[in-house]
Amino acid sequence: MTPYVADPVYLNGAYLPLTEAGVSPLDRGFLYGDGVYEVIPVYSRRPFRIDEHLKRLQATLDGIRLANPLAVDAWKSVVLRLIDAAPWEDQSIYLQVTRGADDKRDHAFPPAGVPPTVFAFSSPLVTTPAAVRATGVAAITVPDLRWSRCDLKVVSLLANVLARQQAVEQGCAEALLIRDGQVKEGAASNVFVVRDGVLLAPPKTHLMLPGITYDVILELAAAHGQPLEVREIGEAELRAADEVWMTSSTKEILAITTLDGVPVGTGQPGPVGEAMWQWYQDFKNTVMRNG
Ligand code: PDD
Repeated sequence: MTPYVADPVYLNGAYLPLTEAGVSPLDRGFLYGDGVYEVIPVYSRRPFRIDEHLKRLQATLDGIRLANPLAVDAWKSVVLRLIDAAPWEDQSIYLQVTRGADDKRDHAFPPAGVPPTVFAFSSPLVTTPAAVRATGVAAITVPDLRWSRCDLKVVSLLANVLARQQAVEQGCAEALLIRDGQVKEGAASNVFVVRDGVLLAPPKTHLMLPGITYDVILELAAAHGQPLEVREIGEAELRAADEVWMTSSTKEILAITTLDGVPVGTGQPGPVGEAMWQWYQDFKNTVMRNG
């Protein structure tokens, strides 16, 4: 059986087997969800958009007032070493930094000198099977119960976890989060809508994670002359859409063809999403596989 996590993992400067990697139960990631993370896709053993992922990591660390424990080059060497040691060509690298473990439980920051906990590992990148891509997936809508700094990629993900679980229990792949009558994103993905041939993307605000895949899609739309509007998307507009997609580093671009039990558009993946998927593959293959 393929293991989900490759050995070695990285923990606080050491490379060691997962079974030997341990953190204190007083770790603030465990006690408070006080930490940040990144997920970086790797194609043909090359990390995709690593500079952008490390920039977002820095922005999130700044947002929670936690010093970055590693310089950009040090992060890159951790990532490359994990990639080298893993058995798969295509991988998903997970990075996490928490505010470390003090000798007591106190909401306020620990004293200077308590080191952060730094953890990273590689998993196989599991792409969506062609049969699933061909039909698209089902999603539900749920109220967005998260806090108001959804632009930060923090490990406190309880609202996202509950939303995704609700989707899974209804046989769906994703939950789309609605706040103030507008769709912001999915529980673990960004959302795009197509209406009358125009691609609609919610703007990057504090209420949405600035996806790395999202940025690639905006670039590809511009490069291929795909009409695009970056603006808030109302719930009624979402329900009247010709196409809805979810996007992320691990899902890439995946059509949502049923929303709350109702077909989206024709109920099949639409032409704009199909074109974008192909542009994404071409871009990825050119940049990543051919150097
Ligand atoms: N999630 N919005 C949310 C809430 C997310 O959790 C993610 C990614 C995205 C898409 O971002 P990107 O294109 O940079 O992957 C949007 C990752 C994959 C995860 O939590 O596993």
